[in-house]
Amino acid sequence: MKLIDGKTISEKIKEEIKTEVAAIIDRDERAPHLAAILVGDDPASQTYVASKEKACKSTGITSSLYKFEEKVSEKELLSVIDFINNDNDIDGLIVQQPLPPHINSDRVVASINPLKDVDGFHPVNLGKMMLGLPSFLPATPMGILELLRRSKIDTEGKHIVVLGRSNIVGTPVALMLSRKGNPGNATVTLCHSKTDNLNDLCIQADILIAAIGKPGFVKASMVKPGAVIIDVGIHRIEDKSEKGYHITGDVEFKEVSKICGPITPVPGGVGAMTIAALLMNTLKAYRKEL
Ligand code: GUN
Repeated sequence: MKLIDGKTISEKIKEEIKTEVAAIIDRDERAPHLAAILVGDDPASQTYVASKEKACKSTGITSSLYKFEEKVSEKELLSVIDFINNDNDIDGLIVQQPLPPHINSDRVVASINPLKDVDGFHPVNLGKMMLGLPSFLPATPMGILELLRRSKIDTEGKHIVVLGRSNIVGTPVALMLSRKGNPGNATVTLCHSKTDNLNDLCIQADILIAAIGKPGFVKASMVKPGAVIIDVGIHRIEDKSEKGYHITGDVEFKEVSKICGPITPVPGGVGAMTIAALLMNTLKAYRKEL
């Protein structure tokens, strides 16, 4: 077993971004600017947005937070998005998910200017990704690919099993890894809640990506010895520690790490990379590279 150190790799990416932003400011140009919309007071969403703001600050990227009460109307959100879409001083916009049930999140995401959609959730960006055209890639799948690239884990011809078919992680990462490219050129099996013989499929994986949203779901008996394990889960489990909880992933780390090859820890694996990927996209939006 070898740890894939997402924290160290993401710090390196943030250093690279910081250097680029400093060069922009040295040329007397304005810094890249990321806006975030946060609705309600879901603790997990608040933590994610706070981490994104902190990462912006540490790299010199300007960040603005537009915070709304849970009861905000869809109309009001759409009008703020319209304002941000037309503000030439804002390069990227994310709307933290999930949104309250009275708001149609598909409509909200579709209202974001695709050229500012640094989350890569807009149908235009997802469609372009499907076609292999330049687009903003969703941050978590992009972070996973960057992690594989920088850890020199070869994916060509490998059998990759993805657990979970969400629009944010499982479906896009499966597509991205099966496309031509490096990382890419893999044979991908996308598994979900209705998959038969899940264990039989998992044990064939050279690379197993767990994005199923269930703590400790992947057991050692599901893993081929030496397989690469990418754990996307982030679960807060209450315990009797001073903090009152600990963070764990979709993989039963203690047992799996005894038999697998390289593995991402939780925390300090994929989560750190997601934010680094968002900053990379923000810089790309600033440079109008699409
Ligand atoms: N909720 C969970 N993950 C994400 C993400 O990557 N972006 C946004 N906007 N919301 C999320």
